[in-house]
Amino acid sequence: MKFSPRWRVIWLSLLLVCGAAFAADGAPGQAPAGAVRLGQVAQRPGHAAIASANFHATQAGLDVLAKGGNAFDAAVAVAAALSVVEPESSGLGGGFMAVLHRASDGHDVFIDAREVAPAAVDSKDYLNADGSPNRDASLKGPLSAGIPGEPAGLALIARRYGRLSLKQSLAPAIRLARDGFRVDSRLHDEMVGQQKDLARWPASAAKYLVNGQPPSEGAVWRDPEQARTLELLAKHGDSDFYRGATAKKLVAAVRAAGGNWTLADLASYRAKERTPISINYRGYHIITAPPPSSGGVAIAEILNILSGFDMSHLDQAHRVHLMVEAMRRAFRDHNDYLGDPDFVKMPLDMLLSPYYADGLRQSILADRATPSSMLPAASAGEPGMHTTHFSIIDADGNMASVTSTVNYIMGSTFVAAGTGVLLNDEMDDFALVPGKPNVYGLLGSVANAPKPGKRMLSSMSPSIVIGPHSTAVIGSPGGSTIITQVLEGILHFIDGESAQQIVAHKRFHHQYMPDVVAVEAGTFDPATSAELSRMGYTLKQRASWGFMNVVTWNRKTNQLDAASDPRHPSGLGKVQ
Ligand code: GLY
Repeated sequence: MKFSPRWRVIWLSLLLVCGAAFAADGAPGQAPAGAVRLGQVAQRPGHAAIASANFHATQAGLDVLAKGGNAFDAAVAVAAALSVVEPESSGLGGGFMAVLHRASDGHDVFIDAREVAPAAVDSKDYLNADGSPNRDASLKGPLSAGIPGEPAGLALIARRYGRLSLKQSLAPAIRLARDGFRVDSRLHDEMVGQQKDLARWPASAAKYLVNGQPPSEGAVWRDPEQARTLELLAKHGDSDFYRGATAKKLVAAVRAAGGNWTLADLASYRAKERTPISINYRGYHIITAPPPSSGGVAIAEILNILSGFDMSHLDQAHRVHLMVEAMRRAFRDHNDYLGDPDFVKMPLDMLLSPYYADGLRQSILADRATPSSMLPAASAGEPGMHTTHFSIIDADGNMASVTSTVNYIMGSTFVAAGTGVLLNDEMDDFALVPGKPNVYGLLGSVANAPKPGKRMLSSMSPSIVIGPHSTAVIGSPGGSTIITQVLEGILHFIDGESAQQIVAHKRFHHQYMPDVVAVEAGTFDPATSAELSRMGYTLKQRASWGFMNVVTWNRKTNQLDAASDPRHPSGLGKVQ
């Protein structure tokens, strides 16, 4: 559909009027915090549930709970085990974001263990001679790696929220790394996919390849160097990783291969506690990720827009139309405004305001797509699925929603010699080249430009949803699609679906640019697809969708459920 220049003027005026209305009203900032709180119908589940992307990791968490740990100790155990058994997605060389809910006092906190740029970061290192993005530099090898946050984040959770020592919580991961585990088909396939790049770095080849080949499916695979690094973390907390022998090895390995980390970069890294984003929607209270994730802001903006529509009487095509239009507007803002809150002033009061959502809602046409080119601001590839999410509720009702990542498949593919640590390639999540999308097709502005010590913007959206009678801990990997997958999961939960139904549900995604709706096969019936095309949407089938892990607690019946995405057989959701 083409819009005439006159239409463009009308369109822009409408947006400006909406913006002005917001400003004149002096609208409040964040949506009011939870009218619905767990305490009102407080029960203690009395048993626990964990869902993660790998059955060894789920079991590691359950073992730590059995030893007297709480959900937060279990989160440390699951994350560390995933570093060993699911290295394609997350690990000590990466970072994570978590939303924690402490049952005893209702305290909600966001743990930001996101990587940061090293002090010597220079955007020019990520450009080819002709000024085009050098994807090899931003996605492979030591220049692509930010300073890891995972060890600091795990130590922080154990210290401030756990009941057990780091040594007790890391014990299952150390055991898995030392004694080994059988390589599953997923890990085998990912190693085959990255084989050429792993072979570029001697320590990566030594760790992941046997005679130049990835271990076969079913082979027992051990990770003794990572076991040693985990033992040092268990013994000394994160001081060894950031200031001790491991720090020295990391810096030496990175610099020998052309990277620019210094000991000072590691020594100055801190995981941070931040206030999560809280929003209410249809009587449910949603606690989710603030910047440096864009996920919570986008989810809040989308829900605020949708809250003004009665979607109950709409057919599927019209419901999807409204959702895609809300996604389009939220992703436009994501591209323009968001970055590391320690570096960038962001108009969060505006973005999270119901008045701002009112304006955006009014710009949605009843049964016609708004081309993204009509919304003032900024193409793209198929997002990858790497990153991992797990969800935990313990017997006391403590909850941990944790999304952890090394970014793309097996991160930078660079293992720092002598540490067993596979480094992330999170530098690609910065807006490295203005106007050029990252590997997930996300565009960014100066708000997400790289700077020394700055956190790159993330889409990770770990969330907790508390309703009148039920609670869900939810999240997913999936690059930029994390946001819309988690959003859809939250809506399915609010619609009354079970954990199993939520993780199995077909999904779709829109992110402003490219101006297409990515769709999983079977999401829409032919009539809905035809109606969406008539409205102006371009539907594009996409094969890979996130590995969602959800636990739910029905507080009326006191039933816990844990479900792992059926698209990926390595996952395990288990109630203990
Ligand atoms: N590296 C993926 C994300 O943080 O969104």
